[in-house]
Amino acid sequence: MEKVKIKNYPMVNPIPIVLAGAEVNGKPNYATIGAFGVVCEGPIFYISLKDTHFTTIGVKENGYFSVNIPSVDMIQKTDYCGSVSGKTVDKSHLFSSFYDEIGKAPMISECPMNFLCKVVQTVPICGFEVFFGEIVSTFVNENCLTGDVPDPLKINPTLGMGFRYYNLGQSVGAVFKEGQVIKSK
Ligand SMILES: Cc1cc2nc3c(=O)[nH]c(=O)nc-3n(C[C@H](O)[C@H](O)[C@H](O)COP(=O)(O)O)c2cc1C
Repeated sequence: MEKVKIKNYPMVNPIPIVLAGAEVNGKPNYATIGAFGVVCEGPIFYISLKDTHFTTIGVKENGYFSVNIPSVDMIQKTDYCGSVSGKTVDKSHLFSSFYDEIGKAPMISECPMNFLCKVVQTVPICGFEVFFGEIVSTFVNENCLTGDVPDPLKINPTLGMGFRYYNLGQSVGAVFKEGQVIKSK
């Protein structure tokens, strides 16, 4: 197969689209982000937020942020949160918010899975603040569990790639099992 060299463009892998939450001026605010991921089993997440975002102010002030995983049926609100800023539009009433006993950052009741993260390190880069957050609490809708494990197909997250949203599709194999076939050859 011939390879074609194309322009450098970071939006080429499917990424989970999440809503980052922070308390700003005493109100919940949420921003849609794709620059989110697992750093290590610490357990540490990272989110990368433009330094001018309203949410960024709240994360810096409180030292906490939330990560909320919206299911695909929340696509309109998810996209909306990524199109308007809390600087000009009050997004606090878009969802019903709840808090862990620690308080610090609001989480979205309508999202099937939520994480409260405590900022442990911040790296400013190219006009963004990359916040590394230790997960201090995790919540999941009971009906999204299979046994006691969160079930991706029940959570039904939204993936982004390029300028389109996608759903998850089906599982195609089990981690640390599929490769066993080659090991045993
Ligand atoms: C699908 C999608 C992904 C986005 N990913 C990011 C991101 O990773 N980091 C970021 O700073 N902004 C991202 N944005 C833009 C912010 O969500 C958007 O500017 C939002 O209005 C910021 O809200 P705030 O000012 O209330 O914090 C994304 C927007 C969309 C629609």
